[in-house]
Amino acid sequence: MRKLLIAANWKMYKTPTEAQSFLQAFLPLVKESRNEIAICPPAIDLPAVLHAVQGSHVKVGAQNMYFAEEGAFTGEISAAMLIDLGVSHVIIGHSERRQYFGETDELVNRKLVTALKHHLVPIVCVGEREDERESGLTEEVCCRQIGRAFHQIDPAKLHKVVIAYEPVWAIGTGKTATPAIAAESHLIIRSEVARLVGKAIADNMRILYGGSVKPENAEALLNQPEIDGALVGGASLDPKSFAAIVKAGVPA
Ligand code: 13P
Repeated sequence: MRKLLIAANWKMYKTPTEAQSFLQAFLPLVKESRNEIAICPPAIDLPAVLHAVQGSHVKVGAQNMYFAEEGAFTGEISAAMLIDLGVSHVIIGHSERRQYFGETDELVNRKLVTALKHHLVPIVCVGEREDERESGLTEEVCCRQIGRAFHQIDPAKLHKVVIAYEPVWAIGTGKTATPAIAAESHLIIRSEVARLVGKAIADNMRILYGGSVKPENAEALLNQPEIDGALVGGASLDPKSFAAIVKAGVPA
């Protein structure tokens, strides 16, 4: 069975001090949860968050990293730096990085290769824009993004990868994909993973849904057998609301 992963993507919200206050309130609320929980704060908050989660089962992820091992890349963060700090997960190819920072499928592929080399758990984001959905291109876009992300990676190395299906039109808009629409896309993605790297890996790969997940819709989404967790933006910024989403997922 695939273990549910409920991950918070804080985007560019919360100072280190605010992050600490969040965790003080949040950790007692999820003490009993058997779901996997990850907090992905801004990079500058990582040490404070890692310190605050010590002794709990909450994991910590970065929102981005660069593919090079090290070098003259002002402003970037390497996989080795994340590992050294104790970070276990990393989001790769979020649509905001693709949209505002010019991330291409090729860059996503290179980052994925490096993340796997360093034994990080990559959360690879895919999803169609509204115009692409309206033109009937959802399947083509998701399959292309997955194919290019996995390009020339040894399938044996892919077992740790988590995919997040985040339809761009549902991110931060309050428009959630219905559980049925989300499940349909997840099925398409899982079939494509099976075609590319084999059914065994596809059956074990967790596919999260992201896009306006809130306490009110989390249960219906997480009840879908194809949906293996959530990547939560806005609703993860409040401890009570994120804890409610964590609890909405009944562990496998
Ligand atoms: P919202 O939950 O704010 O729509 O953001 C989703 C997202 O982009 C998570 O990575």
